[in-house]
Amino acid sequence: MDFFIKFKRLKLLELPPIILGIFLSMLCIFFCLFLLELSTIYSENEEIVNTCFFGVINISSPSSFSSPIVKEEVVIKKVNFLEEGGNSCDIFDGNWIWDASYPLYKSKECKFLDEGFRCSENHRPDDFYTKWRWEPKDCHLPRFDPNDMLERLRNRRLVFVGDSIGRNQWESLLCMLSSAVPDKASIYEVYGNQITKHMGSLVFKFKDFNCTVEYYRAPFLVVQGRAPHRSPKEVKMTLKLDQLEWSSNKWKDADILIFNTGHWWNYEKTIRHGCFFQEGKKIKMNMTVDSAFQRSLKTLFDWVHEEVNMEKTHVFFRSYSPVHFSGGDWKNGGSCHKEQFPDLESAFVSSKEVDLVSDLLSNYKRKSQLQTMELLNVTGLTARRKDGHMSVYYLGPKEMAPLRRQDCSHWCLPGVPDVWNELLYAVFVKRESTSQSSASRPSTSPEQYL
Ligand SMILES: *[C@@H]1O[C@H](CO)[C@@H](O)[C@H](O)[C@H]1NC(C)=O
Ligand SMILES: *[C@@H]1O[C@H](CO)[C@@H](O)[C@H](O)[C@H]1NC(C)=O
Ligand SMILES: *[C@@H]1O[C@H](CO)[C@@H](O)[C@H](O)[C@H]1NC(C)=O
Ligand SMILES: *[C@@H]1O[C@H](CO)[C@@H](O)[C@H](O)[C@H]1NC(C)=O
Repeated sequence: MDFFIKFKRLKLLELPPIILGIFLSMLCIFFCLFLLELSTIYSENEEIVNTCFFGVINISSPSSFSSPIVKEEVVIKKVNFLEEGGNSCDIFDGNWIWDASYPLYKSKECKFLDEGFRCSENHRPDDFYTKWRWEPKDCHLPRFDPNDMLERLRNRRLVFVGDSIGRNQWESLLCMLSSAVPDKASIYEVYGNQITKHMGSLVFKFKDFNCTVEYYRAPFLVVQGRAPHRSPKEVKMTLKLDQLEWSSNKWKDADILIFNTGHWWNYEKTIRHGCFFQEGKKIKMNMTVDSAFQRSLKTLFDWVHEEVNMEKTHVFFRSYSPVHFSGGDWKNGGSCHKEQFPDLESAFVSSKEVDLVSDLLSNYKRKSQLQTMELLNVTGLTARRKDGHMSVYYLGPKEMAPLRRQDCSHWCLPGVPDVWNELLYAVFVKRESTSQSSASRPSTSPEQYL
């Protein structure tokens, strides 16, 4: 207190300029130290450190400052994932970093979003969830460049196949890409359909690039159909575990295929409704959901192996997107509407699905000489984002959902699925650059990659 009273009595302007200068620089140093403290909390926030020392010392020169924090931030120089040195970097292992330059687009400026995904327009009060960037531990991700991605997609088809979380990701990519297209009317659904939850498929064309970004609904990836004749009476439907979804002939020739599944593979959404599992003509009354899921993945991988031209098509499998209901599930009051921050520290919880998919994948990679499906292992990083769900802001701008009916599985947009797409972009660009140096693709001309 005393200090402040004395301080007030001093008339600043009467002080000799040099003392004033010294005083101000001390203030600045204290402030910087304070920010450094903060930056350890917001693990690895380079920007804060950079801004703080900008103009004071040269932080890239290790000798000028010896704080262990600065050493950690600066001296260990990370490579870019796309550089050769980035080959060994696991981009799915890292941290969420606060980045004020995010989000990559505004929902108001993107006409391709379901009303339900537009959380800020549906009056979600905070926008913190839009401001987190994913930073791999051992390398830097390239920033998403929509113009570059659109150039790479020229004359090509990119297809998402999966459940509604796949649609969440597809709409995110439409927004990310369209942010670089001034003439929004040049992007349209080729059959004139509107984006609604009820469409089984939607095909958006970017006219200036002659490319399409498509979505096919296939929550189980395998065929779901009526029960065969003379089935036991509790069998109302079956999942044909050895047969890939009917629409597969429409997308097997796509240039980029991104699969996902998982949210429907549970007892509630199958057996409980009388939906049993079938292989060939046999209904497997005793088959568990887990082994049925495993069987369906094998069907997917066999299909990719046999039907897809891996020289042309990049195939990705985006892993399970965790849900964050606390205190119940979706139908008995589970909630996530109070979450404003990610779990920055939480350890990765292993997911059965990721392990399953990666085991199967490595088996296939051993068998096949060809490049094969790439796992987008987003489960761990997504598990830390309990703050990103739509919670009660999914009913449109006029209405808030009741607290007991929250959506803690889908994601607000802009938001977490944008980051999945940044990872997709990084892996895709990396694959293209490696495959182009070994073999050029005859069907496209070089100037398309400028
Ligand atoms: C900072 O230091 C590094 C290495 O000591 C040097 O390469 C760089 O040019 C310096 N930057 C400035 C702005 O002085
Ligand atoms: C547009 O792209 C499709 C492939 O998606 C291709 O078959 C067609 O030839 C392209 N059209 C032009 C004019 O390049
Ligand atoms: C299925 O399970 C039931 C009861 O658990 C058992 O009686 C039956 O033998 C099993 N059927 C097969 C084919 O394993
Ligand atoms: C997926 O990523 C997590 C880190 O988030 C890692 O612990 C796990 O081993 C990875 N799984 C595979 C199959 O790469």
